Amino acid sequence: MATVSEVPDEPGQPPALSALSLAEASQENKTKEQIITPFDVSGGVDEHGKAIAIDYDKLIDRFGSQRIDKAILERFEKLTGKPPHRLLRRGIVFSHRDLNLILDKYEKGVPFFLYTGRGPSSDSMHVGHTIPFEFTKYLQDAFDVPLIIMLTDDEKFLHSPKLSLKECRRFALENALDIIAIGFDPKRTFIFADTEFIYGGHGAAFGYNILEMGKKTTNNQIKGTFGFNDTNNILEFAFPATQSATSFASSFPFIFGSNPKTVNKIACLIPCAIDQDPYFRQCRDNAPRLGLMKPALIHTVFLPSLRGSESKMSASDTDSSIFLSDTDNQIKKKIGKAFSGGQDTREEHERLGGRTAVDVPFQYLTFFLESDEKLEEIRQSYESGKMQSGEMKATATKELQAYVSAFRERRKAVTAEVREEFMRPRQLIFKSMPSEKEQVVTLDERKKVLQKEMAFIDDALQRLQTNS
Ligand code: TRP
Repeated sequence: MATVSEVPDEPGQPPALSALSLAEASQENKTKEQIITPFDVSGGVDEHGKAIAIDYDKLIDRFGSQRIDKAILERFEKLTGKPPHRLLRRGIVFSHRDLNLILDKYEKGVPFFLYTGRGPSSDSMHVGHTIPFEFTKYLQDAFDVPLIIMLTDDEKFLHSPKLSLKECRRFALENALDIIAIGFDPKRTFIFADTEFIYGGHGAAFGYNILEMGKKTTNNQIKGTFGFNDTNNILEFAFPATQSATSFASSFPFIFGSNPKTVNKIACLIPCAIDQDPYFRQCRDNAPRLGLMKPALIHTVFLPSLRGSESKMSASDTDSSIFLSDTDNQIKKKIGKAFSGGQDTREEHERLGGRTAVDVPFQYLTFFLESDEKLEEIRQSYESGKMQSGEMKATATKELQAYVSAFRERRKAVTAEVREEFMRPRQLIFKSMPSEKEQVVTLDERKKVLQKEMAFIDDALQRLQTNS
């Protein structure tokens, strides 16, 4: 059987190991449980060796999160004065942790911020990647809150045998352009790449070497050399701390100020696909021990692969995905070949009707088609056998083409300068931002550090110049 380390290109992202390949590998027709981790996403395999769809209800039970229920939808409607986003209405945003606490705070005017991210494992993002970001944009607009977007280029580097640090850094900058094109507000959004932000400034070269060295060092080596055991840790073990650190407002004094009394009260809400939950479950376990607030979470399901809903779109499997860079024609071809819930012949289809639950083009409509009425009409027409799968595919093609082409238009406006502004550590503008007095304190602290550094540099330069 394939192991995670044999999986190419996009570890940390997609169905590293798809249910289909699992099915192929299981010659003894053994059943397999579904696997959902940040590094591996696949539905299970039944007793006949057949891949089965991801069971999200089971996942909620196993992870111990809460369902997004009618009461929450009603709260959203009440608080925002608008119908909840279609991803909420359709159950695509399906689970959460402590969302009610965040909404309670919002009601009382207590500040919170949004945090989401992406592991930049390739320079091409697909339409599945945009779902949590689309939802995040809606939350940012609806609640008028600051947003922090983390690009974990170090994570992708550490977890993927084939990618160089340089490539991951380049992917982060490329992906930032696509993410900005979702439409985030530059005044309220800070984007950072780990290798630039965490290992930035004078520590940069040192930081990169830690990453390079860490990737090369196996546990076996460490055990052999130092006599360590599994209670010791090395960077891969340590990375969850990096991803967790972004959940705390105190990590960003230039946004939230540095007064611990106010900063430690600012809550964090993390919209993410459900595979990222393990990182934050662990973070929530540890946060109280550090006197920090647990981040709240809101989870999305995965956009199904073109091959079927047993696995999600994966950038490393180009036939599974519609990329944001695909042309109209490519989209048409790909959806034409997508897994269909239609019957084998026209007669049979008219007699039995299409199966919307497994029909990939229909599933895509539930993600991207705005009108609930239209979606319901399509469902009924297909299930009654009136609408054939060709027409279903044509409808989904049109919708995806419109989505990607609107993205393409926005993407054109995102220049390197626009990205630079988004990625510059700076004061964001939002309702409960630090007072001007507090901003002055934070800036003054930063200025003192830089002035000291400048004095050293001037000194060194002067010495060198008088010597020469
Ligand atoms: N680990 C995520 C990935 O591989 C990237 C990420 C970092 C993230 N922080 C996040 C995703 C917060 C969602 C929410 O894609």
